Amino acid sequence: MITNKWRGRDYLAETDYSKEEIETIIDVAYELKRQRAMGQPHNNLLPGKTLFLIFYNQSLRTRNSFEAGMTQLGGHAHFLDPNKIYTPAMEGHEVAYTTERVSDVARTLSRMGDAIAIRCYGDPVQWRYGGAHEMLREFARWADIPVLNMEDDIYHPFQGLADIMTVKEKCGGFKGVKYLMSWAYSPSIDKPRAVPQSGITYPTMLGCDVTLAHPPEMVMDPKIIQQCKDYAKASGGKFRVERNFKKALKGQHVVYAKAWCPTAIYKPPIGQDDKKKAQQIFDKYKSWIVNEENLALADKKAVYLHCLPCDRGYEVTDGVVDGPQSVVFDQAENRLHGQKAVMNLVMR
Ligand code: CP
Repeated sequence: MITNKWRGRDYLAETDYSKEEIETIIDVAYELKRQRAMGQPHNNLLPGKTLFLIFYNQSLRTRNSFEAGMTQLGGHAHFLDPNKIYTPAMEGHEVAYTTERVSDVARTLSRMGDAIAIRCYGDPVQWRYGGAHEMLREFARWADIPVLNMEDDIYHPFQGLADIMTVKEKCGGFKGVKYLMSWAYSPSIDKPRAVPQSGITYPTMLGCDVTLAHPPEMVMDPKIIQQCKDYAKASGGKFRVERNFKKALKGQHVVYAKAWCPTAIYKPPIGQDDKKKAQQIFDKYKSWIVNEENLALADKKAVYLHCLPCDRGYEVTDGVVDGPQSVVFDQAENRLHGQKAVMNLVMR
């Protein structure tokens, strides 16, 4: 009997998939990208299928790449504003006639469509780290259809997929590629850690030489750090943590720098629940900016990555993000191709 090991699977975290499976997804994504470039329609892949999109947070790239992607595959993406439905809520967080238990929403949508994609982090889960990921796992427990993670408070697996596709295109592969994920200054202290956490997970899994750089206070989830060490060991890649921005930049082939908040918003160790204190700590590190001088410390042919939106003048200068080394719009485009690959594999 022929079995399809992809059909019906969730995409909640890249760590749920093996290295070989991620490589297959990347291959499928490039094939779909090639077909689109050749003007070959592939709207016969998911005809009549519906993807529900639930966004608790704002989005430009994620929403539009999922919607366009479903159209191109022959299906339909249906946007749901959680404040205009009965807001899906976990048991214990329900409000009469305002929320609806996640288990009920998941089972209802499973009777009507073919996948549920969710973005949730921050305020909707009171910035409790891991609370949003738990909610997505709860959706997946009850849904009979795939649940896709459009960014929670631990992982942004579709962003990481687009990032690593871009690295492969620009650097020719993963082995020996010096990849820097660095914290960069932003006046906003409210940024989740999902992008940088997925942004170090994929490249260590696939064999890059990864450096994670951040000021001492901007620590990441120790479980993710351990996972990256394990992946690097298994893939023959490398993983190290650096506290000095300029030192970290030296000789890198990929420079990816963005702000993140170390734990749930301004809770310990940043500021002990004191937003003003957290802001003061952030403001100590205004020199962590990708400007022309800092980028010149990297390899001459280094590419600059950012998931976007970027904070111009803080995380990066206009000269860099609009300059010849920036590949941020190729990276944004790869959101479309990577997501189409996963949808095509799991929703058939
Ligand atoms: N990078 C990213 O996820 O962008 P959006 O917030 O616009 O979806």
